[in-house]
Amino acid sequence: MQILTEPSALALVAVDDLVYPDGSRIARRLFYDQDVYEAERTRIFQRCWLFVGHESQIPNPGDFVTSYMGEEPVIVSRAKDGSIHVVVNSCSHRATRICNVDCGNATTLTCPYHGWQFGIDGRLLGVPSFRLYDGGLDKSSRGLHQARVETYLGLIFATFDHDAPSLTEYLGDDYRYYLEALFDRDGDGTAVLGGIQRWRIDCNWKMPSENLAGDMYHPDVSHASVMQLSGEASADIEPAMQVTSSSGHAIIVRTRPDDRDGTTYPGSGKLEREWFDSVQPKVRTRLGETRARLGIIAGNVFPNFSLVPQMFTIRVSHPRGPGSTEMWSYCLVPAAAPAEVRATLVSGYLRVFGPGGMVESEDGDNWVGMTAGAACARTDDRPLHVGLGLGSEYTSKEYPGSLAPLISEHNQRGFWKTWRRWVAGA
Ligand code: FES
Ligand code: FE
Repeated sequence: MQILTEPSALALVAVDDLVYPDGSRIARRLFYDQDVYEAERTRIFQRCWLFVGHESQIPNPGDFVTSYMGEEPVIVSRAKDGSIHVVVNSCSHRATRICNVDCGNATTLTCPYHGWQFGIDGRLLGVPSFRLYDGGLDKSSRGLHQARVETYLGLIFATFDHDAPSLTEYLGDDYRYYLEALFDRDGDGTAVLGGIQRWRIDCNWKMPSENLAGDMYHPDVSHASVMQLSGEASADIEPAMQVTSSSGHAIIVRTRPDDRDGTTYPGSGKLEREWFDSVQPKVRTRLGETRARLGIIAGNVFPNFSLVPQMFTIRVSHPRGPGSTEMWSYCLVPAAAPAEVRATLVSGYLRVFGPGGMVESEDGDNWVGMTAGAACARTDDRPLHVGLGLGSEYTSKEYPGSLAPLISEHNQRGFWKTWRRWVAGA
């Protein structure tokens, strides 16, 4: 049976009408149109590698967390043999949601409706009144729908496309160069601290994703009060640059002029500064001089997994229809950081990001305003302008990827070109 059919709406979604080939102009329809949204569900969220969790959330056999791949609810679990599984959280009998909690430890998962029992890896193990089926039920083919899973430096990704290239290939050599400097600095990796902050916001999922790809044009205006408090303007962050990788993922990086790491946010205190300084010689030996001094400000793994390492957070913008997004925000810290350092990092993260954070609330307000504004009648003759710094791209022997000045819309154009490629089915 063909389960996933291409929606007929896809025929109505012509990428040439939506995104210029160079990504510098985009249609307002991208943010409110149901046909565009359905095309994204099929062409992007059924095919791309999607972040579903961090290994530190499920360290032991039987541990599980619930998550989402686009709109599809999934269970992410660690089996007895240590392998990680991602299965759709929907019973293979009559579709009931099987797991109704955020996390836990279990040997089996039992459907609350008729009691079919599944292994933590999704295999169907037991069926009440099984003999009444009289041989008409093949348990081996009735397990939960399995997504393909791969991990990278503690990050768990899954895709519904079992023929997709590997995660390593999806991320690309050039992008992994930067990810290693973030997730594998001192050899001890990273860990998610505490629970996940979640909230709904009336915006299209692409707004937070392309913003966190590295929009440094907005902080001096949108976050003026915070920037004044920190005594820094965006231009002061130089030398810094935007980077779009060959696979279309984005990152913005700065290189510190001294030999310190650039990972801590402005205004960080003495305690964490000392700890980061103490591991810096190890980082230099492992990653080399350039990457040891690299600070990653923000980034986005296409489509919707964003990084804000300066604020010790990673987040996912889960789509919930063209005009709604469920933000999931994780606090991520170096796994080896002592408890008192972790405590200061998490409180810094909460002050700035998350629904009560100074910066997050300002960003969210803009995204809601953009979504509402994009749908204004009689404005379709004005495609949105993403042209800042067009033509300023360059390459460097030291830094892989396509580079551009920090204050430009290079990474946003990269996001839109990548969107265009996936929706066109390329
Ligand atoms: Fe799950 Fe019936 S729907 S056992
Ligand atoms: Fe912002």
